[in-house]
Amino acid sequence: MEVVSYEKPYEEVKDTPLGIFVFEEDFGNLRYVGAFAEKIENILKAENFKGKEDTIIKIPLLEDDTVRTFYIIGLGKKDKAGFDEYRRAGAIFVKRLKKDKILSACAYAGDRLDYKRSKAIAEGLLLGNYSFEKYKSKKDEEYTSVQKVNLYGGYEEGIRVGKIFADGQIFARDLVNEPGNVINPLTLAQIAQDLAKEYGLECKIYDEKQIQEMGMHALWSVGKGSATPPRFIHIIYKPEGEPKDKIALVGKGLTFDSGGLNIKTGEYMRTMKMDKSGACAVLGIMKALALLKPQVEVHGIIGAAENMPSGSAYRPDDIIRTMSGKTIEVDNTDAEGRITLADALHYASNLKPTYIIDMATLTGACIVALGEYTAGLFTNDDAFGDKLLEISRETGERMWKLPMDDKKLREKLKKSDADIVNTAGRYGGAITAAMFLEEFVSEGIKWVHLDIAGPAYLKEEFGYYSKGATGFGVRTCLEYILSIDKGT
Ligand code: BES
Ligand code: MG
Ligand code: ZN
Repeated sequence: MEVVSYEKPYEEVKDTPLGIFVFEEDFGNLRYVGAFAEKIENILKAENFKGKEDTIIKIPLLEDDTVRTFYIIGLGKKDKAGFDEYRRAGAIFVKRLKKDKILSACAYAGDRLDYKRSKAIAEGLLLGNYSFEKYKSKKDEEYTSVQKVNLYGGYEEGIRVGKIFADGQIFARDLVNEPGNVINPLTLAQIAQDLAKEYGLECKIYDEKQIQEMGMHALWSVGKGSATPPRFIHIIYKPEGEPKDKIALVGKGLTFDSGGLNIKTGEYMRTMKMDKSGACAVLGIMKALALLKPQVEVHGIIGAAENMPSGSAYRPDDIIRTMSGKTIEVDNTDAEGRITLADALHYASNLKPTYIIDMATLTGACIVALGEYTAGLFTNDDAFGDKLLEISRETGERMWKLPMDDKKLREKLKKSDADIVNTAGRYGGAITAAMFLEEFVSEGIKWVHLDIAGPAYLKEEFGYYSKGATGFGVRTCLEYILSIDKGT
């Protein structure tokens, strides 16, 4: 879909359906349609439409024997409407256009849109237009996608960046939605390599032999039960000239998580193609960075593996030596993500970045704690964690900080024949998983762990999300990297 800026008065575009974004109990933006404003306002009153956020109403009006279609989209209270309200309004508008089978439309959200509003609306329009239908032989009528939206007074640079953000998220969504018979560690590595080639990024892929030679027995152990061996992916964005800072993004890349020998029951195994969401978010971010070109060096790091039960699978009781030298005792083969991340975080630490952010669909416990729409945030540096939380409030990616200072909980990880054991009981499961990861982050590196088990994949569409993969994490990480670039 195209999003373009235009600046014509309503009279010159009246053949195209028009969406008008209004505030709650402030319909000032209706002024754009001149004489129609009063009629529309009367209908809104009659229909009891208030302009609350996440609401939309369609109003067909007859004049001179032609029907003009208006859509009024609510932004909520004017003083509370932030960028995420604009983003959601854009998405809700497009979703409705799709449903009404309208291919092209205009949108009005104010006379002069600033950079951030233009970006948010463009992003919302593009995300709302997304659906995963590549395997449907007969394209569902409902899924006709919108071809073009003209945004009145849109700020070009905002629209451009909004598109790049949306593309990064859509790239991640498309990858996550692919099933395990299509995306496995080998094909994921190939996709990373192709992406790097197309966008001028560096990319190193380590095969199962090199993985073992590097001492990554943790990643190797998790992957060795599968007919498709693991791969380690290192993709790099380097700006021209001296970078202002260096950051590593680590993504959990389980292309499928059956649980391994501690096999999951059917209900819990279903959707476990999404266990690569962190990895796919990293790739989506790398793609966007290649186009945004910030003055920041960014390393994308993924341990890709498939967790399967077989004669060659790793077992409960196994003791594994990780790349860091620390040993892990396996209590449960279904707590595999943290094992692969042990090697990935150690490798990332060796690059000596200032910051590491890891994204992982790590624990069901995090979903129990926070619900399925909020990611758990864990950090060894409160200032860094708080900065990400602040950014996430603007991006609309809900995150909530969970504690890392519980010494009694931490002790449970040490009750082992090895240096550390991979589970520590049911209570505080998201926290003990994060504490496990922290063991593999080198001293002095500022680290945030995002447990995205809930928001990475949805049962139902809403706002700018469609059913299935969300691309969660892409937006906030990109904003964070841009904030380093801008020095804000
Ligand atoms: N990939 C799962 C976590 C998960 C669960 C992600 C639900 C998304 C939705 C992870 O590998 C896992 O299986 N975790 C176990 C850990 C347990 C064995 C300590 C869990 O959460 O049950
Ligand atoms: Mg598991
Ligand atoms: Zn998993």
